[in-house]
Amino acid sequence: MSLSIRRRLAVSIAIALILTLTALFFTLRFTLRGILNSDIDSQLAADLQRVSAPVAAAGSLEAADLSGIVEHSSFIAVVRDLDGRDLAATRRLDAASLALSEDEISRILNGDSIEQSTEVDGEPFTVRSSRLTAGRRVIGVVQVGESSAAVSSVTDALAIAFLAAGAAAAVLSLAVGYWLARSALKPIDDVTAVAREIEASDLSRRIASRGKPEEVQRLADTFDGMLQRLDTAFQQQRNFVLDVSHELRTPLTALRGNLDVLLMQEGLDEESREQLQRMSLEVGRLIRLTSNLLYLAHVDAGRGLDRRPVAMDDLCLEVYRQAKDLRPEVKLRLGEEDQATVMGDRDLLKQMILNLVDNGLKYTPPGGDVTLSLYTDDSSARIVVKDTGPGIPPADLPQIFDRYYRGEGSGRRGGSGAGIGLAIAEWVARAHGGRIEVESEAGKGSTFTVHLPLDSGPAH
Ligand SMILES: Nc1ncnc2c1ncn2[C@@H]1O[C@H](COP(=O)(O)OP(=O)(O)OP(=O)(O)O)[C@@H](O)[C@H]1O
Ligand SMILES: [Mg+2]
Repeated sequence: MSLSIRRRLAVSIAIALILTLTALFFTLRFTLRGILNSDIDSQLAADLQRVSAPVAAAGSLEAADLSGIVEHSSFIAVVRDLDGRDLAATRRLDAASLALSEDEISRILNGDSIEQSTEVDGEPFTVRSSRLTAGRRVIGVVQVGESSAAVSSVTDALAIAFLAAGAAAAVLSLAVGYWLARSALKPIDDVTAVAREIEASDLSRRIASRGKPEEVQRLADTFDGMLQRLDTAFQQQRNFVLDVSHELRTPLTALRGNLDVLLMQEGLDEESREQLQRMSLEVGRLIRLTSNLLYLAHVDAGRGLDRRPVAMDDLCLEVYRQAKDLRPEVKLRLGEEDQATVMGDRDLLKQMILNLVDNGLKYTPPGGDVTLSLYTDDSSARIVVKDTGPGIPPADLPQIFDRYYRGEGSGRRGGSGAGIGLAIAEWVARAHGGRIEVESEAGKGSTFTVHLPLDSGPAH
């Protein structure tokens, strides 16, 4: 999983801060060391002067008074003659520890100054070795040393201070960075939350995040523009479906009426009767399809219900009469028919039951049967459509009420369909304050139960 922008920003700020502090630390350390070392340099020059002055004044090592060196405690010093014998050394010092090699001695006698680091009583010292002269004569070697403890203690203290400050700054910058990034990204989260709330069925909503930062405003405006185009396209499509299904339903209903009149004629030969019956069934199927499309468009357009008391037992009988010949190979039966009155839209309720019965008849293999029953209890009516068909696989069950969803093999088993029958049935049940339950087991048929709240008034 990739890091969120918030975390990325917080970590980047922390890293940048730590890098800056590290660079600052090294710069400071370098500068401080330079300052402290040049301090030691000038002290060493003064020390050298202090030791060599009495020698130069006396003209020889033997005549010079070197007792001042022995007592001196702020610096260390050793005076040697040309044979390498120690003539004087400060009291703290073990002169042997500052022994020089032959090569070093000859370099010093030639006029070089040599610098070394050593430790006296655990204290670091910088030692400078030079020649001693009296007039133009070289008469010995002098070594003077100054403590360099201050340099390391100052740089150590600096390192500790920077380490502590760095750790605190890292933690603080992570927290502040996270908080900053959070508040900077909050407007985007708000836009996302609104965008998520906008459903396909409600494209009229807009994000309209006025007063937000410019970048977020641009994002919201772009999104709103896209929503506007989508809304227009959906509306055009809905109006088209509404117009077409409405235009189709009227002539189709007239056509079925005419076919039924023809079928009632006496003296029709068997073949013509069969053909007319098949045509009537096909027209019936087209009417159901166009009705479903029409209702779907109504759902999207947010059409209200035309509520009246509906006698559900009459309605079930009507559906039974209309559907019993839909598929002669499957028997449609009427089960228990209690009396029930529901406050609702008769056309929609009829379409709901018809869709359930149609599915039962369509998916049940020849020889099976479908039973339509109506039960009532104190507060609700239950319309039950039970078939002896193939059942619905558990994987399909959660989706069968989705628009345009058709189970695998539905086309092969039950022929054509658009996958909208159950979506409409469920919407109708919900719009009436009810719900649809389905129980199905592969190979053992399906049972669809619609629960609807009862109306207490008389039926019309
Ligand atoms: N009684 C049933 N037996 C077996 N499968 C069913 C039954 N009822 C529904 N299904 C499954 O649920 C799917 C969705 O049903 P729905 O009624 O919404 O669409 P359809 O019947 O395929 O098409 P339409 O109803 O629009 O003509 C079907 O394709 C089928 O797979
Ligand atoms: Mg169907």
